[in-house]
Amino acid sequence: MTKPLPIIIDTDPGQDDAVAILLALASPEIEVLGITAVAGNVPVALTEVNARKICELAGRPDIKVYAGAVQPMLRPLVTAEYLHGKTGMDGPTLPAPTMPLQTQYAVDYIIDTLMAREAGTVTLATLGPLTNIALALVQEPRIAPRIKQIVAMGGGYFEGGNVTPAAEFNIYVDPQAARMVFESGIPITLIPLDCTHQALTTAKRVAAFRAMNNRSGQATAALLDFFERFDEQKYGTDGGPLHDPCVIAWLLKPELFQGRHVNVAIECESELTMGMTVVDWWRVTGRAPNATVIRSLDADGFFTLLTERIGKLP
Ligand code: RIB
Ligand code: CA
Repeated sequence: MTKPLPIIIDTDPGQDDAVAILLALASPEIEVLGITAVAGNVPVALTEVNARKICELAGRPDIKVYAGAVQPMLRPLVTAEYLHGKTGMDGPTLPAPTMPLQTQYAVDYIIDTLMAREAGTVTLATLGPLTNIALALVQEPRIAPRIKQIVAMGGGYFEGGNVTPAAEFNIYVDPQAARMVFESGIPITLIPLDCTHQALTTAKRVAAFRAMNNRSGQATAALLDFFERFDEQKYGTDGGPLHDPCVIAWLLKPELFQGRHVNVAIECESELTMGMTVVDWWRVTGRAPNATVIRSLDADGFFTLLTERIGKLP
């Protein structure tokens, strides 16, 4: 077996972030070096607690969790309690974490890890606003060429936005951070709403988790039951889009996904379209491609992978 892929998960749990973390911890192909929490769905004081709760749920109190940026680089923090509940991870009742929060600031941890590890070996899997990543790039520009790749959930083009008609939440919360990341030259795979809206948590798929006799399966069902209700009503679908686990699934089985290497620019001027990912899908601008934008996935294959792996957890 080849060596596990070392990754840092940057995240704002968030029910879908939680399922993504479970998938990563259930997959021997991946080595989670650390988890860095960022403000997004809820303030970072909650996202770091939620990250630790999920690590303990997965039986991994050894995982190092760090707290990062308390707000976006320039704009005031916009949160999403309407979707995720007041804890940011409503649904299952999970005990308060007993594993420690690391004392090091997440941005410093990202920098130290990238400077210490062999260049080109560490992947950043980002599941929330890109504030921590952008701050790390500002503080230590030398990390940019040392990052193997960034695989980010965010943006939308053919599907439009989910927090405004033009913008997806992760990009909208910190568009300046997103612009910095997309202009960094780092290899990026972007998993936008165009892909994640095909990964619906249908009743049948959630039932597969509920039928598991492990705590992680039961918690996943409870996470999805809560998380999907808002989007089911909004979109009138059977189930809601399961965004963040697509990032980890892409790392595990990229063949489940299809996309195109094109230019992505971030709107940071107009309030009307703030945070829009302007994807040059038809290559009409002449701007250099800077991301592989994923537009579709094999949804059944994705849920088969997710169910098989979460079934292996405690
Ligand atoms: O727009 C979906 C994204 O915003 C997901 O990462 C979800 O967790 C929220 O952060
Ligand atoms: Ca998220």
